[in-house]
Amino acid sequence: MKQIKAIYPGSFDPLTNGHLDLIERGSKIFHELVVAILRNSEKEPLFDVAERREMLAQATARWPNVRIDTFSGLLVDYVLKQKAHAILRGIRAISDYEYELQMALMNRKLNASVETVFMMPAEAYSYLSSRLVKEVFRLGGSVRDLVPPEVEERLHNKFRPVALPANQGKH
Ligand code: PNS
Repeated sequence: MKQIKAIYPGSFDPLTNGHLDLIERGSKIFHELVVAILRNSEKEPLFDVAERREMLAQATARWPNVRIDTFSGLLVDYVLKQKAHAILRGIRAISDYEYELQMALMNRKLNASVETVFMMPAEAYSYLSSRLVKEVFRLGGSVRDLVPPEVEERLHNKFRPVALPANQGKH
């Protein structure tokens, strides 16, 4: 059987259980799966690329054929540089489809030899996104079942209020 190397690109700011579910599914059907974090995003990230990379490495350590990397510039150029054959993307709901189709067709226009493969995460994660995780956490909601433990811990560390010295605030 042909051995297929795939790239799973994204922002992963932060990694969610939905991403992880897709990584696990991808690790089962691809010979090698490279999770590639976009470096030159215009968005203001919550976690820097090094932090995102560490969290991904910890959460995916159990799958020996999964590797974490970063990329900038055009995704298809990175795919070719990696000598990979496919791009993996997740589709949670029909609302994802239009954007994903647009990206897949643009990537095909840029390089017809690169295929995009879509997989569906478990339906329990169909509503889950990094944006909502950040919003829920910032507003005090629990993200326990939404992100892996290493991400939850980092979220707490990032947002934990600085403890005031014992005598501060007293008059
Ligand atoms: O997690 P995201 O934000 O949905 O991931 C989007 C990503 C990183 C896959 C997309 O922005 C991307 O591929 N960027 C690289 C630039 C590129 O190749 N653009 C043209 C193809 S549409």
